Formats: sequence, structure tokens, C-alpha cells
Amino acid sequence: MSQHSSATVPLRLFITVPPGLEDLALSEIQEKAQLGLLGEGLSDCMEANPAEKAKGGILLLAPGSCLTPLHHYLKIPTKITLKLWSFKARDFPKLYSKLLALPWRDYLASTDISFKVSCKKSRIIHSERVEKTAKRALEKYFQAYPLKKKNTLGGAVQIHLDIYQDVCQVGLNLSGELLYKRNLRTDTGKAPLRENLAAALLYLLHTHAKKREIELANTILLDPMCGSGVFPMEALEFFRPCTSRDFAFTKFLKESWWKIAPSEEMPSDATLFKYCLGIESDPMVFKQLESNLQVCSNDAYKIKHGDFFQTDISDLSKNKSLVTICNLPYGKRIPLKNAVGFYSNFFQHCSSNKDIKLLGALFPKEYEHAPLPKGTTVLERRYFKNGGIDCVLLILY
Ligand SMILES: C[S@@+](CC[C@H](N)C(=O)[O-])C[C@H]1O[C@@H](n2cnc3c(N)ncnc32)[C@H](O)[C@@H]1O
Repeated sequence: MSQHSSATVPLRLFITVPPGLEDLALSEIQEKAQLGLLGEGLSDCMEANPAEKAKGGILLLAPGSCLTPLHHYLKIPTKITLKLWSFKARDFPKLYSKLLALPWRDYLASTDISFKVSCKKSRIIHSERVEKTAKRALEKYFQAYPLKKKNTLGGAVQIHLDIYQDVCQVGLNLSGELLYKRNLRTDTGKAPLRENLAAALLYLLHTHAKKREIELANTILLDPMCGSGVFPMEALEFFRPCTSRDFAFTKFLKESWWKIAPSEEMPSDATLFKYCLGIESDPMVFKQLESNLQVCSNDAYKIKHGDFFQTDISDLSKNKSLVTICNLPYGKRIPLKNAVGFYSNFFQHCSSNKDIKLLGALFPKEYEHAPLPKGTTVLERRYFKNGGIDCVLLILY
């Protein structure tokens, strides 16, 4: 085993995040590292090498022993990649010889390999030919250095080859399936929001609630058009480990990089919001909501089948303060005849309820100037893409 193969050696990670939400992902890492959720050694490592925002992600140096907690506890990222090597390659023979000379066996405990290639602004532009070349190089490599049976994990590994301005960057997709696939919701309603987007928007709303000194222990999160329940679920799960799925690296990355003696996962009863209320008008979607929320503790939420505009919320909230978040209907799956009218009506209805102390409304950016009731302050406009549509989260009051 090479002397570098140790779970305490810092690995260079790229944590992919939906564009526009990088600052929230960085805060999530900093906060959870401080809480001790992300494994031993991360805070020290971050002190020496602070995590950095990049376009579409975060660059983080972390001990390999943190790979499991990073995957379990981070809720905003889409994927975590291990950045390994980079080299110049202007033609295919060079690409082949460079790939053949890399020390793959220091990292891989599986030869079930696929590639994800991108080529931009480079002499090498044929991604299919890059893939064929890489395949040949790795086959030859593992003929020369076959894996010993007892060291083989046998899972699938996806190697990223990103060629930009004639420099090839080599990385390994540690996560496997994208991280918003939590394997928690069995049914996903008509227009589900990805779990990691929901987590990021809730985290942002939570930050505003703290800034406005809203007493969170006594506040209820309301989603008045709750769909299949992504907001309540993410609010209740934000500080809890995602143990409902596995992550690719545990099946292909040599264990010496990341495996440590099993330790008790820190019990965390923290939540972004302690109690959630959901309303959903569609009977089929309501059934899905009921079934999805069964994984959450019964006394952490209440849901109601009905029309938000006709529902007496004070009856449900017992006049506690409400922080409201809503992914309003839009797009092809839930078309609206008069979107501006619907959104204005929604804002009017929310502002007439004095228990609502903060409102986050998500809808297409093209309607961001729909009329707001008098006296409403826009605290933030956060832009991002949802299902290919340019969207905004307006934070109001
Ligand atoms: C965009 S979807 C919400 C998706 C949800 N955030 C998720 O990820 O599953 C909007 C939901 O609002 C519901 N809805 C529309 N009008 C409503 C109303 N007046 N009252 C309650 N629910 C309503 C729709 O049936 C739909 O499920």
C-alpha cells in the first residue's frame, strides 16, 4: 500500500451545486463542519485550506474519512467528485500514454469503469474518441496491474475526463446517483422540486428568519400547496443523515482512503423548522403526500386536504407564527390560465394572514413583477433554474 493511502490524507473534492446557490452550499458546509457532523479533521483542514466557491460548486479539501459524513449530511449538493490529476494532451497518442501512466491502482478497487467526457476549447474535440482511447488505456493498465481478488470491491466507477484548453482533468464521481435522489419519497406528485433545491431554498428562508429574529422554536413552516411534500421532508431532515441510499465510492474507491473504524453517527435532533403544516388540493397528490410523510415523526407535521384559499389556517396553526414557502403551480405540468392573476391573489391572501411572518414564493422569473400587496418588502430575489425554467424565489415581508 502506498504511504499516501490513508483516510487522514486530504482529498481534493469538487462539490457540484445548482448554479446560483453556491453561497448556500458553502454556508451549509461551514455550519455542519462546525457542528461536528462532517467528520473529524474537517474543521482543521478547512482552517488551513478554506473551502472556495467556484462556478457551479465548491472546492473543498477534506480527509478521506469525511467522505461518508459529507455524503450523509450535505443536502444542497448534486454530486461530489474526487479531483485526481491533470495533464496537457493535444492529441490522442499523448492522451493514451498519459492515461496509461497514471497510478489508477492506488485508487480503484473495481474495473467496472464508465466515462463522462467533456471537451471544450481544445485541439481534442471528439468526446467519443476520447472515451475509446481512455477505455483502451485502462484495459491495458489493468492487464499489467490486475486487481487482487481480496482487494476488489466490484462496484461501478464513473471517471470524469474534462478537457479544457488542452488540459485534461481526471476525476472520479464519488456519489454515483445524483444526491437529490434520497430514496425517501416514493411518489413525487405532478411537478416535484428536486430535494437539493428544496433544501437550499429552505436554508435561505431559515437564514432570513434568523436575521429577522423570528422565534424559530415557536414557528411553523407552512407549505400551502405542498404537492408530494418535499419542503416539509427536507425541513425535518436537513440536519439528519441520509442513510436511505448508498454512494458509489463505497464500492469502488480503495477502502484505505475513506474507511475508518465505525463510529456512532452523531445523533442530531436539529431541524430547520421543528413543525410543518402542508395543504394540498389534489386528492391523488394528497394520498402521495400522506404516504411520503410516513417516514417523518408523526408529531412533527400536520397535513390537510383542501384548497389553500378556502382553508382556515389559524385553526391548524393555533395562531403560532408561520414561515411560509411555496412552489407555486407553473409550467407544462400545472398550466395556469392567468398566472399573474393567480400569483397576485396568492400574495394578497398570504398578506391578509398576520401570522405569516415571512414568505418564500417560487415561480417563473418571467412573472417576478406580478403585483404585490401594498406595504410588502422584497427581502431577496434568488434566481436559479428548476426543470429548465428560469425561476425566482421571492422572499417577502
Ligand atoms: C408545483 S406543485 C408543488 C410541488 C411540490 N413542491 C413538490 O415538490 O412536490 C403545486 C401543487 O399545488 C397544488 N395546488 C394548486 N392549487 C392549490 C390550492 N389552491 N390549494 C392547495 N394546493 C394547490 C397542486 O395540486 C400541486 O400539487
